[in-house]
Amino acid sequence: MASKKKRRSAEWFGREGKMGFIYRSWVKNRGVPHDQFDGRPVIGICNTYSELTPCNSHFRTLAEHVKAGVLEAGGFPLEFPVMSLGEALLRPTAMLYRNLASMDVEESIRGNPIDGVVLLMGCDKTTPSLLMGASSVDLPTIGVSGGPMLSGWYRGERIGSGTNTWSLSEDLRAGKITREEFHEAETCMHRSHGHCMTMGTASTMASMVEALGVGMPGNAAYPAVDARRNVIARMAGRRIVELVKEDVKLSQILTRKAFENAIRVNAAIGGSTNAVIHLIAIARRIGVKLDLEDWDRLGRGVHTLVNLMPNGKYLMEDFCYAGGLPVVIRELGEQGLIDKDALTANGATIWENNREARNDNPDVIMPFAKPFKRDTGIAVLRGNLCPDGAIIKPSAATPKLMKHKGRAVVFENIEDFHRRIDDLDIDASAVMVLKNCGPRGYPGMAEVGNMPLPEKLLKKGITDVVRISDARMSGTAYGTVVLHAAPEAAAGGPLALVREGDLIELDVSKRKLHLHVSDEELEKRRKAWKPPKPPMQRGYWKLYVDHVNQASEGADLDFLVGKSGSDVPRDNH
Ligand code: FES
Repeated sequence: MASKKKRRSAEWFGREGKMGFIYRSWVKNRGVPHDQFDGRPVIGICNTYSELTPCNSHFRTLAEHVKAGVLEAGGFPLEFPVMSLGEALLRPTAMLYRNLASMDVEESIRGNPIDGVVLLMGCDKTTPSLLMGASSVDLPTIGVSGGPMLSGWYRGERIGSGTNTWSLSEDLRAGKITREEFHEAETCMHRSHGHCMTMGTASTMASMVEALGVGMPGNAAYPAVDARRNVIARMAGRRIVELVKEDVKLSQILTRKAFENAIRVNAAIGGSTNAVIHLIAIARRIGVKLDLEDWDRLGRGVHTLVNLMPNGKYLMEDFCYAGGLPVVIRELGEQGLIDKDALTANGATIWENNREARNDNPDVIMPFAKPFKRDTGIAVLRGNLCPDGAIIKPSAATPKLMKHKGRAVVFENIEDFHRRIDDLDIDASAVMVLKNCGPRGYPGMAEVGNMPLPEKLLKKGITDVVRISDARMSGTAYGTVVLHAAPEAAAGGPLALVREGDLIELDVSKRKLHLHVSDEELEKRRKAWKPPKPPMQRGYWKLYVDHVNQASEGADLDFLVGKSGSDVPRDNH
């Protein structure tokens, strides 16, 4: 039902006198007729287009489709740019800037005459940063993902973003392929607009947008270059105008039940471990209580249904043709694993949107009764090595390594790792430990947790050993990799105290990660420990290192947690 409440844009465009003149006149400079300021919903289109974010390179077109939809529904669209984060190019890691971009988004929305907003997001961090920023303002909001690239094909085989980057570079190091073949594969992998087409972080987050209900049905899987992707953008443009009229705020969609649905969907798609940090950060912005234990508890008993890289063999294009995320949601709903009443952006409940979904390829999306992998989810580990938790993705791990005891091979930081890795003579029972790659330590918690294996092991045909760090891992990566150990080493967490040769025990079924060193010895080591020197003493890096929360809390900046709403009481002149 349409709300009679005065829209916030009227505080700008509905004014008389000097301020009304200022707020309207400059906007008219590109030919906007006076009747556009008659109180119709003003829709912000938050665009993360950038040539430095190749995954979002088609967003100008996508924005035009949103605009067309807004105009068709009688709204007034205004597109604005925000900081864009490209996973492939940004150093030292796009994650360092996720919170900065979220501030840009939050302030851009709040400071402008916007009644509702459509968020255009694609590459990994652009999704959480936009959702975090929008959550802290809490206007009617719809997310539109940019869609995955078409499948990579190389010599008759599918090759997936990231996943085959890691495997091809290991093949090159092991001497299995030539440099020319490596370069040829590089050209064949990314051959259209769109984001990584494996079930990496971008596809996971696009699936989270759909599962949370903040995106339109079908948001996760249509390829970026599929005409239906543009239809989603256009329908989102139409629908946001209605959401403003109905005054449905983001917080009415991003409820506790929406997050619970998303966590289960993440387990069923074998989604990225990065989703853990991002969803906790978004929840803490919008005011929903969500923690690591929720991930472990809600994901238990959920099977991975999709046979997609990095866990399986297909890619997002195949997922789309099989029916996409609606099929997964229907499967979960039939098992009672979806809260069917959760409201979504198109006005229907999640169950109304998905209950009729048809599976057109059960080899790509397997039924719950005969899943791709059983009981996967995200396992949250505890123990004296990670008092505030660490995580592992069982669907990407080697089953026999999930219960393992081995001696630590320790790298003090990423440079130490690179310096020594190919000279190391270790065996497959070793536990590789990487320190100082967490939020403060790197800074930004880079995706280096899936450390490449020493050349000597690769040449023996060994493709996995247990790896532990306070870092993250690319959603496209795989292996028995324990991540996000908290507190991190640079914050004085126990990871900082591990020494070469220490015995470490991992038991995923018992959710245990234990360092077999006595408390007395650890205390002695703690007294001798000195925090590493921060890499930069000024600017955003300093702000970040001084204020970033640990991974278990979403790695947001402490002063950004929560929301301030949309009120701005003062005029600008
Ligand atoms: Fe952008 Fe993978 S590099 S999604």
